Amino acid sequence: MAEKRTIRTTSTTEPGQTPEDHRIENSLRPKCLADYIGQKKIKESLNIYIAAAKKRGEALDHLLFYGPPGLGKTTLAGIIAAEMGVNIRITSGPAIEKPGEMAAILNNLKEGDVLFIDEIHRLNRQVEEVLYPAMEDYCIDIMIGKGPTARSIRLELPHFTLIGATTRAGMLSAPLRDRFGMLHRMEYYEVDELQAIILQSARVLDVQVEEEGAHEMARRSRGTPRIANRILKRVRDFAQVRFDGVITKEVAVTALDLMDVDKLGLDHTDRNLLLTMIHRFNGGPVGLDNIAAAIGEDAGTIEDVYEPYLIKNGLITRTPRGRVATEEAYHHLGLEIGFMGELK
Ligand SMILES: Nc1ncnc2c1ncn2[C@@H]1O[C@H](COP(=O)(O)OP(=O)(O)OP(=O)(O)O)[C@@H](O)[C@H]1O
Ligand SMILES: [Mg+2]
Repeated sequence: MAEKRTIRTTSTTEPGQTPEDHRIENSLRPKCLADYIGQKKIKESLNIYIAAAKKRGEALDHLLFYGPPGLGKTTLAGIIAAEMGVNIRITSGPAIEKPGEMAAILNNLKEGDVLFIDEIHRLNRQVEEVLYPAMEDYCIDIMIGKGPTARSIRLELPHFTLIGATTRAGMLSAPLRDRFGMLHRMEYYEVDELQAIILQSARVLDVQVEEEGAHEMARRSRGTPRIANRILKRVRDFAQVRFDGVITKEVAVTALDLMDVDKLGLDHTDRNLLLTMIHRFNGGPVGLDNIAAAIGEDAGTIEDVYEPYLIKNGLITRTPRGRVATEEAYHHLGLEIGFMGELK
């Protein structure tokens, strides 16, 4: 019964975090930069900035990580705090409703601390305004009293590091974005990187995985470590129940086919999106809002979560007139390019 519920509510390749992930993710999170696989460019610059800040005995500059869910933004924030040897205070945009709450959080920070704000694009305007002077001059202005006797006093803050994470960099206000010293775009992971992550997680979870089995799971992980770990757990269960517990290539292929995760890691929503573009809109060009309405998904979610992976794999292109399903998409779905309408 429980198994049935899991399958219905959580698609294996959905990039967002589920309660089930939450339980196990902490144990799988790498704790230091050396164990953090992939994102080479980000790691290289962080290594330098962390070493420099430590040498000067200063707090690290404010950092923003943006990119699709499950690529390791939260993990990286924790690693940075650990590497700097400071505490991390974790909160999120929607959790802070009033300017006073933001002021209280800032006021409780200690010298050098990391303040991590997840979904930072969802901070409301008044709360955001408290952050501006805090980020720039390490101070906040607080109003004391009401009416004609009201006055504002300036409160000094310790030097802290704000780390913001968002899946929607486009929704961040310009004044906030400009106050970050470093902006880092998280990239989808390569297959060999995901394979390394799977093998690392397998060691933690004490699962036996053969090289080829790991490769097959990596290939179908949608470029996303969170999905790689989730696939590993599900294939492990499958291997234990149906086979002798070892994840070979055969076990991985059989399990993943059964989960309806295809060779590129596309799930039902990805395929539905492509099929809708092809069948309903002749392969495009079609506007994002029309696709969204047709498949009943939020346009923002399509733009930030589904589309980037399809574009990266050359299944969709963006043109000034809208999105177009490529020849690759037809091939991947095993369709003829017969009914594309006008030539593109
Ligand atoms: N570079 C990496 N190396 C090893 N494991 C990783 C890496 N990046 C992410 N992971 C694994 O993937 C899981 C999800 O990562 P994380 O929660 O940091 O993603 P996120 O970008 O914060 O996602 P969201 O946008 O949903 O908050 C982590 O539990 C971690 O185990
Ligand atoms: Mg996160």
